[in-house]
Amino acid sequence: MTPAVPPPPPPSSAAHRTPEEWQPVCRVAELEVERGATALVHGQAIAIFRTHDDQVYALGNHDPFAKASVLARGIVGTRGDTPFVASPMHKHAFDLRSGRCLDDRNVSVPSYDVRVVEGVVLVGQRKSDAA
Ligand code: FES
Repeated sequence: MTPAVPPPPPPSSAAHRTPEEWQPVCRVAELEVERGATALVHGQAIAIFRTHDDQVYALGNHDPFAKASVLARGIVGTRGDTPFVASPMHKHAFDLRSGRCLDDRNVSVPSYDVRVVEGVVLVGQRKSDAA
């Protein structure tokens, strides 16, 4: 009779996170055009937007000016070629592609990679603050 050897503890799930991790949040068809929706992705509150040309974008939901989680309730539009959401609080506009504030160059909100696969919106990692 050999004593049972306990298996090694599983590695913590956080250590399993890979940069390629994509989290499904909803179907594109469920997103109203030019309206935001919120989702919890990788533990972060994310605002998801679908524009009139059927692009899908994901930003952090928190408005750094208003210090409130409101961007998903903002107003979607375009300035020139730039798709943006304007915060419902004081109307600062953020570029949906980069999260950069169009009214204050020093401010940005996190933006996230988005993919649509077979009609399902997948949100990936936070984009780096590339120019
Ligand atoms: S000060 Fe509130 S959104 Fe700009």
